[in-house]
Amino acid sequence: MTSPLLDVRDLSVDFHLPGRPPGHAVSRVGFTLQPGEAMGLVGESGCGKTTLSLALLRLLPPQGRIVSGSVKFNGRELLALSEPEMANVRWKDISMIFQGAMNALNPVASIGAQISEAVRRHYSFMTPVEARTRTAELLDMVGIGAARAGQYPHQYSGGMRQRAMIAMALACSPQIVIADEPTTALDVMIQAQILDLLDRLRRELGLAVIFVTHDLGVVAELCDKVLVMYAGVTAEYAGVDEIYNQPRHPYTQELLKAFPDLSRPRAALNSIPGYPPRIDALPPGCRFAPRCPAVFDRCHIDQPALHALTPEHLAACHLVESES
Ligand SMILES: Nc1ncnc2c1ncn2[C@@H]1O[C@H](COP(=O)(O)OP(=O)(O)OP(=O)(O)O)[C@@H](O)[C@H]1O
Ligand code: SF4
Ligand SMILES: [Mg+2]
Repeated sequence: MTSPLLDVRDLSVDFHLPGRPPGHAVSRVGFTLQPGEAMGLVGESGCGKTTLSLALLRLLPPQGRIVSGSVKFNGRELLALSEPEMANVRWKDISMIFQGAMNALNPVASIGAQISEAVRRHYSFMTPVEARTRTAELLDMVGIGAARAGQYPHQYSGGMRQRAMIAMALACSPQIVIADEPTTALDVMIQAQILDLLDRLRRELGLAVIFVTHDLGVVAELCDKVLVMYAGVTAEYAGVDEIYNQPRHPYTQELLKAFPDLSRPRAALNSIPGYPPRIDALPPGCRFAPRCPAVFDRCHIDQPALHALTPEHLAACHLVESES
């Protein structure tokens, strides 16, 4: 196997809020991404999906800090780069469609102007005409059509605004795109169109994509592998077939039970009773113990390590460790 395009190891992120103990939002998470590969990043709200994604690009808010780990892109350690060096990696190598950003477009600038501005910010050598040509190309690529470049965000539907965000993420021809909940708040038919678009672009452009989502149906349809996060840690990490046909971590099993009908992929996720723990008051043993149907004494004391069932199927659960 070729060396990975992205190689993330033991990445941990803490949040420091005044007067509170540190919040461990991401703890020792690792994964790899090959060129063109699609990975689903799943887990309930608050489990650290966005924080992990932002950490990869070193775009954490000021309270957030990467406390350990390694993020290598094409063998180059991103955590050791200076800020100007990192600024060259963002958008050109790895870009992101931010959660909810389609609702944060500038209302008083046309979509074309906003995309052109993004293009010129990254390619300062481009003339305005060249940037407009690239913008037209991008708008065509995402199915908006260059003719609508002069329109403003309020003249775009939600789906069109999300297409514009995808165009911006592709502006610098990155090799990896992180799509953070790209279809939340869109209606079901439009969700399907946006996902089809992302999937088509991935294939046409050979992009590696990280799909951040609550929606296990999306993952089943679009991804090669899955990282299941719970309360900041990796619960399970495996190929998509293993995750759906042989889920080994009780959290993955509960998520799949809560999402019984993959033929209706965008149906609402029934929730697992209870909530993930607060990140500044984590339980001492397994973070899933308070909600786990298979919990036993040791779970309340020892944190389970990530156990390799096969080199490509990892799960962090004492039961998995003792059964294999
Ligand atoms: N700016 C911040 N300051 C302090 N804590 C934060 C901040 N951003 C996120 N957190 C905390 O970090 C944890 C992980 O949050 P994150 O947004 O990464 O979760 P998520 O999996 O993306 O959730 P969602 O599915 O709701 O988008 C949560 O406990 C959250 O409250
Ligand atoms: S370690 Fe224990 S509590 Fe945690 S998932 Fe496994 S069985 Fe459940
Ligand atoms: Mg999020």
